[in-house]
Amino acid sequence: MKAARGQGKTIGVVPTMGALHEGHAELIRRARAGTDYVVVTVFVNPIQFDRKEDLDKYPRDLATDVALSESLGTDAVFAPPVEEMYPDELMTSVDVTGITTRLEGEYRPGHFKGVATVVAKLLNIVQADRAYFGEKDAQQLAVIQKMVTDLNLPSEIVPVETVRESDGLALSSRNRLLTPDQRSVAPLVYKALSAARDALRSGKTPVEARTEALKVLAGTQDMTVQYLEIADAANMMPVDRMTGPVRVAAAVWLGKVRLIDNVLVS
Ligand code: PAJ
Repeated sequence: MKAARGQGKTIGVVPTMGALHEGHAELIRRARAGTDYVVVTVFVNPIQFDRKEDLDKYPRDLATDVALSESLGTDAVFAPPVEEMYPDELMTSVDVTGITTRLEGEYRPGHFKGVATVVAKLLNIVQADRAYFGEKDAQQLAVIQKMVTDLNLPSEIVPVETVRESDGLALSSRNRLLTPDQRSVAPLVYKALSAARDALRSGKTPVEARTEALKVLAGTQDMTVQYLEIADAANMMPVDRMTGPVRVAAAVWLGKVRLIDNVLVS
C-alpha cells in the first residue's frame, strides 16, 4: 500500500464483512475502474452487532473471499483478526446523530456507532482516496457520508447502486440463510418497495404509498414487517410530503433472518 502511494497511485477501498457476493463484486469492479490500487477489507466487526446470535451465525469464508477479490483484480485483501482492530478497550468512538435515530438506528441500538467507528478506523488504516459503499444500506451510506464531511476525513465516498437477483431480491450475505420457502417469498420486499415508488410517482402521498406497499406484503407466510417507511434521502427521517428525494426503506423478518432493502425516488 505504501509502495503504491509512493508511486503516486490512487488507492480505492471496499470495506466488507466478507461472505462476498455479486453486490460486493460490483463495488470491487467500480473501485478497480476508479482507482489504481484496490484494497478489499474483510472484517466481521463485533461492535456493530446488536445481537450476539447474529454475530455468531454471520457467514465466514475468507479463502473464497480472497479468491473472488483476486479474480476481480484486487491488489490487497486486509482481513485483520479482532485483536488487531481492538487490542485494548475502546474508549473512542464515532457517533453520528440525527440520521441514525430512525429506521435501522431505531431497531439496532448502537449499530451505527459500531459501523462509523470501524469505517473511520479502516479509512485511517488504508488512507484511501476513494471508498466504495452500496446503496443497499442507504442509511449506512448517509451516515458514512456525514461522518466523512463532519470529520474532514480525506476519502471520497462513492455510492454504488444495489445489485439484485433477476427476481428483484437484493443480494445479501444473509440470503443464504433463507429456507427455500422463505427464499421464494423474499422478492416480495422489492415488489412492495416498487409499489410504493410507483404510487409516489403517480402523485400519491407517502401515507398512501406506504399502504400500497404493505398490501403487497400482507399475509405473507413467515414474514413480519419491522418497518416500512418513506424517508428523506439525506437525513433519513420519515416524511409525510414529497419535497425532495426520498428512500422507501424496509426491514422484514423472514423467520429468523432479517432482510433490509430500499429504493430511491427522486
Ligand atoms: P457488508 O454487509 O459486507 O457490505 C459491504 C458493502 O457491500 C456495503 O457498502 C454494502 O452496502 C454493499 N452491498 C451489500 N449488498 C449489496 C448489494 N446487493 N448491492 C450493492 N452493494 C451491496 O456493510 C457492511 O458490510 C459493514 O457495515 C461495513 C461497512 C463493512 C462496516 O463493518
